[in-house]
Amino acid sequence: MARRDDWDYTYSSSDVEQLPWYYPKLDGDLGKEIRAMGLKRGKFLDIGTGPGTQAVNLAQMGFKVTATDISMMAVDKARKRAKKYHVKIKFLVDDILETKLKSNQFDFILDRGVFHTLEADERAKYVRNVRRILKRDGIYFMKCFSTKTPGHWGPYRFTKKQINEYFGGKFDIVSIRDSIFSGSLARKPKTLFCVMKPAS
Ligand SMILES: C[S@@+](CC[C@H](N)C(=O)[O-])C[C@H]1O[C@@H](n2cnc3c(N)ncnc32)[C@H](O)[C@@H]1O
Repeated sequence: MARRDDWDYTYSSSDVEQLPWYYPKLDGDLGKEIRAMGLKRGKFLDIGTGPGTQAVNLAQMGFKVTATDISMMAVDKARKRAKKYHVKIKFLVDDILETKLKSNQFDFILDRGVFHTLEADERAKYVRNVRRILKRDGIYFMKCFSTKTPGHWGPYRFTKKQINEYFGGKFDIVSIRDSIFSGSLARKPKTLFCVMKPAS
């Protein structure tokens, strides 16, 4: 419960445009993958939508978007953004660790910055839940900080090997690439951008 309160505090006490992860455009890595794979239609879940920028971009591209966040304050702000841009998005307050979302329903799932905030003992449950709600032929996109980001501030950092260890078994790793986290920070954190499919 403390965590939900912390995220609510973050969203109620700040202008979303000042948050480090605020990026009004579609994440560049996600955009490249969508174009390369020729994805045009389908049900897209944006886990931990925060300001809702990614959800709005995906809806503008024609995807049928559901956007969730543990924080009601974040969902309120994301909902206002969707209204401003005249796009239809299904918003839900939902903790991915205790998710109420039904099984096998999404063609695509995006996590831009949630997994890397979870504690070590929460990660296996997260992986199980994401796998459960993704369709068997679905695609999962995830961006997290990499160990190439110096310092200890903010979220956890991961190596490619660790990502393989956490997700392997439940997911087949399609690719893990070094990238950056575009947002309001002048010095962009180094990330891993991961593409996965349910294990065959
Ligand atoms: C770093 S922000 C990224 C926001 C958004 N994805 C973006 O790219 O702008 C992480 C988001 O994850 C949400 N979050 C954290 N833990 C969560 C959980 N267990 N379930 C759902 N959302 C969560 C937070 O409220 C926050 O909005």
